[in-house]
Amino acid sequence: MDNATTQVASSAPQPIVRVRDVAKSFGHVRALRGASLDIYPGEVLALIGDNGAGKSTLSNVLAGVLDPDQGEVLVGGDAMTLGSVAAARSHGIEIVYQDLAQAPDLSVTQNFFLGRELVQPGPLGLLGKLDEKTMRARTKEAMSLLGAQVPSLTAPVSALSGGQRQAIAVARAVMWAKTAILMDEPTAALGARQTAMVYDAVRAAAERGLAVVLVSHDIPKMIDFADRIAIMRHGRVVEQMTTGGLQLVDVLTTMLSAKEEAA
Ligand SMILES: Nc1ncnc2c1ncn2[C@@H]1O[C@H](COP(=O)(O)OP(=O)(O)OP(=O)(O)O)[C@@H](O)[C@H]1O
Ligand SMILES: [Mg+2]
Repeated sequence: MDNATTQVASSAPQPIVRVRDVAKSFGHVRALRGASLDIYPGEVLALIGDNGAGKSTLSNVLAGVLDPDQGEVLVGGDAMTLGSVAAARSHGIEIVYQDLAQAPDLSVTQNFFLGRELVQPGPLGLLGKLDEKTMRARTKEAMSLLGAQVPSLTAPVSALSGGQRQAIAVARAVMWAKTAILMDEPTAALGARQTAMVYDAVRAAAERGLAVVLVSHDIPKMIDFADRIAIMRHGRVVEQMTTGGLQLVDVLTTMLSAKEEAA
């Protein structure tokens, strides 16, 4: 890199998360074969690719759910401990799944704080009772920040619609995330109005400075909605591009190219 290039690079926005050369196999299936990806703060990045391209595997590596065989993830320049949800969370990374992973019998607030309940300090430094008031207030605040509305924060989430539950899942991720939110096909099970609600929540999260990685099969929508698109094929990210002026046919050609990557 010459000096001029270095200067331009240093004034450009820096990725908040860098995925470097990540590989992951399940038995003989090489789900990731050296995937690299840059993720910027405040962007919606659509992660697209054919079935089996490795999108969910990559998301799960980033969320600490899967431990890769090779590679590294840098968050704000620091190497993240891989294969640990707690480590990913401590780096401000949250994941939202299509199947929601909520506890249906618990309330919205209880789901927001599931496994991370706030406890009031008790006497002699012992743990006291749950700080329900603060948890309710923070849940309400997170929901209203995203314009997400539910009839009640205290009713069990099983009483809510799919769209409302997905909006809760997004709001919960936004509340906890400091860096990035990964969403694996968050609207796959939703109707048009509910889908719009989730997209609004995603955009609101990005506007608050979070990086949002959205795994989606709705490519026309992603060209329209996302800021950038990363295309995966055969376990690698083969293209990363901004969506301005992007043509559907070009995306599909790259995505579905029959060319096998060098193994
Ligand atoms: N737990 C697992 N055990 C065995 N094989 C797996 C596992 N998870 C993923 N794979 C395989 O790894 C490859 C990549 O799967 P992955 O789920 O990451 O694809 P994807 O891009 O999310 O696809 P889709 O669009 O269908 O969700 C596939 O061949 C898949 O069958
Ligand atoms: Mg998937």
